[in-house]
Order: sequence, then C-alpha cells, then structure tokens
Amino acid sequence: MYGRRKGPKLSAHQQHLLETLLPQLTLHLKPGADPRSYFLPLPRGEVEICGTQISGEGKPHHFPSPKKSLLRSDFSTSPQGRGDDEIKDVWLEIGFGAGEHLHWQAENHPHIGIIGAEPFVNGVAKLLSKFVEVSRNIRIHMGDARDVIAALPDASLGRVFILFPDPWPKTRHHKRRFIQTETLDQLARVMRKGAELRFASDDAPYLEWTLERLLAHPRFAWTATCAADWRSRTPDWPQTRYEAKQLHGTPAFLRFVRR
Ligand SMILES: C[S@@+](CC[C@H](N)C(=O)[O-])C[C@H]1O[C@@H](n2cnc3c(N)ncnc32)[C@H](O)[C@@H]1O
Repeated sequence: MYGRRKGPKLSAHQQHLLETLLPQLTLHLKPGADPRSYFLPLPRGEVEICGTQISGEGKPHHFPSPKKSLLRSDFSTSPQGRGDDEIKDVWLEIGFGAGEHLHWQAENHPHIGIIGAEPFVNGVAKLLSKFVEVSRNIRIHMGDARDVIAALPDASLGRVFILFPDPWPKTRHHKRRFIQTETLDQLARVMRKGAELRFASDDAPYLEWTLERLLAHPRFAWTATCAADWRSRTPDWPQTRYEAKQLHGTPAFLRFVRR
C-alpha cells in the first residue's frame, strides 16, 4: 500500500513506455494549485516510441516501419483556455490498477481531467500500453493517492473513484485500509459540494467497514434508494480487472455525494 511496488518483470516495450511516455504524463504536484492547471498543454517535442506514432493532436499515424516511430506532443491549444479543449473539472482515481476504468473515463469525458494514483509500476505500465495517442486529459501520480489529496486545494474535485481497494482482512492490518475516517475528512475537504465518491468492493467485511464510516460521516450522503442502486454499476462505470476476478464475493457499488 505504501510506496512504489513492483511485480513481474516489465517487458522491453513497457520499460520504454515508462521512460518515454510516463514523464510526459507525470503529475508534478504543486501544493494548493488548481488541479485544472495540471492539464495545461504538454511540452512541445518528439519522443521515440515503438510501433506507432502517437500524436498530441489526436490521431495516431501508423508508420510503414514497425521498428521506429515517434511520439509527438505539440498541442496547439490550451486545455484550460479555449473552446473544445477546455478542461472543465478534475476527477481522481485512487489505485487504478491496470487502468482500464481510468482510460475509459478519460476517453468518454474529454473535458474532464483525470488524475490517476497508483504506486504499482506494472499497473502504470499497463495503463500506458493502452494509449494510441497521448492522452490530453490523464495525469499519473505513481505513488500514494494521499500525497495528491494533501496537495489539492479545498473543493477542487468533482468525482473520486476507489474501486476494489485492497481489503486488508487481518485485524492488525485494518489501519492500512484506504478508507479511514481521517481519509474521508481529507476527501470531503477536496471534493466540492455535490461531487460524487464512487466505491466498489467484493469483500463483505471491507464493505461493511466502509459503509459504517461513510454513513457516519457528516459530509457524505448515500444516493441509494433501493438495493438495485448498489447491486449494479451505472452505464458510465465500466468493469475493472479486479471486479472481473471476483476474488471475494458479489461486488457492491456505492455512490455517495459530498453534502
Ligand atoms: C486490489 S487493486 C484494484 C485495482 C483496480 N482499482 C481494479 O479494480 O482493478 C488495489 C490497487 O490499489 C493500489 N493502492 C493501494 N494503496 C494505494 C494508495 N495509498 N494510493 C494509490 N493506490 C493505492 C494498489 O497498488 C492496487 O493496484
């Protein structure tokens, strides 16, 4: 849970993506900064990447040679400033794993800047390998999400996702669970009124733990009005890798709003 974690050996392609693409998408935390400022245009330039030319202007260009291609990031307009490119709000995904949910949200919400926090280097590499173009509206913090939260100003996020967090089943490890009253206090600080907190788990004890703390928290209100509301995902909530694994039991999908 704490610090950078490593799993199976990275492929040469993944290693290359971490060296070339990650630096372009890495979040450089500035305490107190409006998170929309993290989505200013990427620096102009070209970076070599295997297989495909990835263009900052939107379309991937395929080269005849599969051996060498370029990644270009010369955005001509500011995502903050003008028309179609404007980033209107920022969402945070905590522990994005292999990044399929984060990637879907970014593709389907081009005007939302999405910050993903994930200390697991293999997960970050898997997210990077999904890109066919430099993602204008994704920024990555390869580390603890609590560092991101601590650096955010009050009322600066419109949505937060915590999907299938590690359940830490042993009592002596409960303090490692991401959901703690203090963490919810911090989330309540950085989420604006009406912002949504989405949480999913297939681990009944962790679900109970989370509900206990969220229902007791004065700043969060559960949106569910019947069981169907937490038994299934909404259409704008794609399945994650951990949900598909069904490791513990039947998943529940909670949506709370910041009061
Ligand atoms: C069980 S996995 C779920 C991954 C993904 N959300 C999914 O549903 O497939 C939990 C993830 O949370 C990450 N994680 C744990 N503690 C974290 C923290 N403090 N900040 C950010 N990510 C964290 C882990 O590295 C792990 O990849």
